[in-house]
Amino acid sequence: MIEDLQELEDKAIAELQEAQTEDQILSIRTKYLGRKGLLTGLLRNISQVPDAQKPLFGKRCNEVKELLSARIEEKLLYQFQQKKEDALIKEKIDVTLPGRAVKYGRIHPVVQVNMEICSILASYGFSVVEGPEVELDYYNFEALNIPKDHPARDMQDTFYIEEGIVLRTHTSPVQVRVMEKIKPPVRILSPGKVYRRDSDISHTPMFHQIEGLLVEERVTFGDLKGILTAFLKKVFGDDTKLRFRPSFFPFTEPSAEVDIICVMCKGKGCRVCSHSGWLEILGAGMVDPEVFKFVDYDYEKYNGFAFGLGLERIAMLKYGISDIRLFFENDNRFLKQF
Ligand code: DAH
Repeated sequence: MIEDLQELEDKAIAELQEAQTEDQILSIRTKYLGRKGLLTGLLRNISQVPDAQKPLFGKRCNEVKELLSARIEEKLLYQFQQKKEDALIKEKIDVTLPGRAVKYGRIHPVVQVNMEICSILASYGFSVVEGPEVELDYYNFEALNIPKDHPARDMQDTFYIEEGIVLRTHTSPVQVRVMEKIKPPVRILSPGKVYRRDSDISHTPMFHQIEGLLVEERVTFGDLKGILTAFLKKVFGDDTKLRFRPSFFPFTEPSAEVDIICVMCKGKGCRVCSHSGWLEILGAGMVDPEVFKFVDYDYEKYNGFAFGLGLERIAMLKYGISDIRLFFENDNRFLKQF
């Protein structure tokens, strides 16, 4: 039995010397020292050892066990360090190599138009404010004098989050939020995302609008016309012809829509303007006293005008883009052109 023990030790050491990988070392450990391992097996047969030799046999067993354990640990550690060194050599970074060129993006055309419009209107004293995109029905509809049975409230047109909460369908609710907080004079602009259940070549479920609001004493429709005319000529060029058409919005009275002469055909009539020669560019009007009532403004003393426009539409007309979906594909070949 003692000779068996010596043989086992020699074999184990030889195998350990041959072992190359962590897996191999671990399986040697199991093979000799595991619960069903060879050394454990020998120990279990101690009853067959003559009594006189038992103490010596037991002692040797422990020695072999300690020796093998130590050798195995040593080899594992060595293996681990070797692996680390290999990785350090393999993964070495040559810091003297030249860097990769950074590709620059562009400012998105919608953002460009937004910045341009905001800076023009800022020069007339309008300041930029923001409102939430997830909006209460109260601000999006109710306080803008849009009654419960108005078609805009239809599930077909509006994304409802839950009863009483919508994704805002326009930036007009910011008017109400601002007027609730500050007293006249008010001159604000509110750009942002709006959402409608619409998707085709000229509609996307999310697009951008800018809302403008001016409230002071003795504001007239002439002021509205004056400011919007000056503003649109700055955006589309001094010789752009405009027309104001009567229209209807629940939150303005009277209301108007503003058209510019078609940027494609200069008024002759083409596909873009549906052969009318004109393009609708924004909605506007004198703030309806009903809206002032919601925010506790003295509608005998103050009046004002509001307007709203779609940024994608302006960018499409300004740059001659025919498909609104191009704005949302993030194709650098498209974006690079602006
Ligand atoms: N909120 C309107 C829309 O989304 C646009 C609009 C029209 C805004 C007239 C106004 C306004 O402030 O006076 O269609």
